[in-house]
Parts: sequence; structure tokens; C-alpha cells
Amino acid sequence: MYQIKRMDEDNVEGVALLEKDNFTDGWSLESLKEEIDNPDALYLVIEDDENKKTVASAGLIVSFDTADIMNVSVSKDYRRQSLAYKLLTKLIEEGRKIGVREFTLEVREGNAPARALYEKLGFKCEGIRPDFYSNPKEGAAIYWLR
Ligand SMILES: CC(C)(COP(=O)(O)OP(=O)(O)OC[C@H]1O[C@@H](n2cnc3c(N)ncnc32)[C@H](O)[C@@H]1OP(=O)(O)O)[C@@H](O)C(=O)NCCC(=O)NCCS
Repeated sequence: MYQIKRMDEDNVEGVALLEKDNFTDGWSLESLKEEIDNPDALYLVIEDDENKKTVASAGLIVSFDTADIMNVSVSKDYRRQSLAYKLLTKLIEEGRKIGVREFTLEVREGNAPARALYEKLGFKCEGIRPDFYSNPKEGAAIYWLR
């Protein structure tokens, strides 16, 4: 069984590990820790009850009625079990409760699994920002859920 929880001091190191494993330029532990106390941030994780491992993460940074979705990742051994879908559904629901009306995110153009995930959640691609990412250089697809 899995639990969806707020990111906190107990699981933030697990989120930093997910960042390290899944991204070439992932967030550091220090940057993630700052979001725990950020009143404009809401970060959720999924924990595996069996081994207490943090296996998925996703966050919102809120500005007025708009929120940026950040740090979406799922541990390699736990993929294709709808964890990202469930976590983002919960994150969007929690965001709406605190007044968010529009959600946006950027994703590497070539990241087909993530783009399919966002499209399944109802996000629409509204533009491409060329060369947005480095290491390796790639454009960003900009998605909105309005
Ligand atoms: C993208 C990622 C978060 C998906 O996590 P996940 O838990 O495996 O995704 P889910 O099981 O919830 O899948 C939900 C939907 O996403 C799409 N999807 C997920 N993985 C996919 C894949 N490998 N290929 C095609 N579609 C995929 C499908 O539409 C899927 O729905 P379906 O199961 O009905 O086909 C995960 O692959 C990951 O962590 N990737 C590395 C980090 C990353 O790229 N993060 C996004 C940065 S913007």
C-alpha cells in the first residue's frame, strides 16, 4: 500500500534522491528543504508502506491564482502503476482548495512519458520554448490546465 503525504523533514532526503536519479540537473537537498517552510509551496510525496521509501514526488509553487507544477518524478521500480497520475490528481485537488485556477508546467520536448501523463490529466500544450533546457540542450513544451 502507498500513502500520499506532505513533503517534510522526514522524507525530503528521499525526494532529493529521486531528483538525483531522475534528472541531470535535479534540485539539491537544500533547495528542496526551503520549500517545506515556503508558504507559497505545496509538495506531496508517495511513500511505500512496506519499506517506508519515498517513491514519488510533485510540488506546486503558487502565485495568486496560478501554480507551477515542479519536481514530478517516480522511482524507476515503481513506474507504470499510476502513482504519478494519482499524486498529480491529489496535488491539483489540493491546489484548487487553496484558490489555484490555472496550473502550468514545462517539460522536455522529447519526454514522451511525461507529456502523455500531463495530457491524460487534461493539460494542453500551448507552446514550445526553444533551447530552454541544457545538459542536453532541448526545447521545453509549455503545458497549461485552465
Ligand atoms: C513521467 C513519470 C513521472 C510517470 O510516472 P508513472 O508513475 O510511471 O506514470 P503513471 O503510471 O501514473 O502513468 C500515467 C499516464 O502517463 C503516461 N505514461 C507514463 N509512463 C509512460 C511511458 N513510459 N510511455 C508512455 N506513456 C506513459 C500514460 O498515459 C499513463 O497512463 P496509462 O497508464 O493509462 O497508459 C515517470 O516516468 C518519471 O519519473 N520519469 C522521469 C522523471 C520525469 O521525466 N519527470 C517529468 C519531468 S517534467
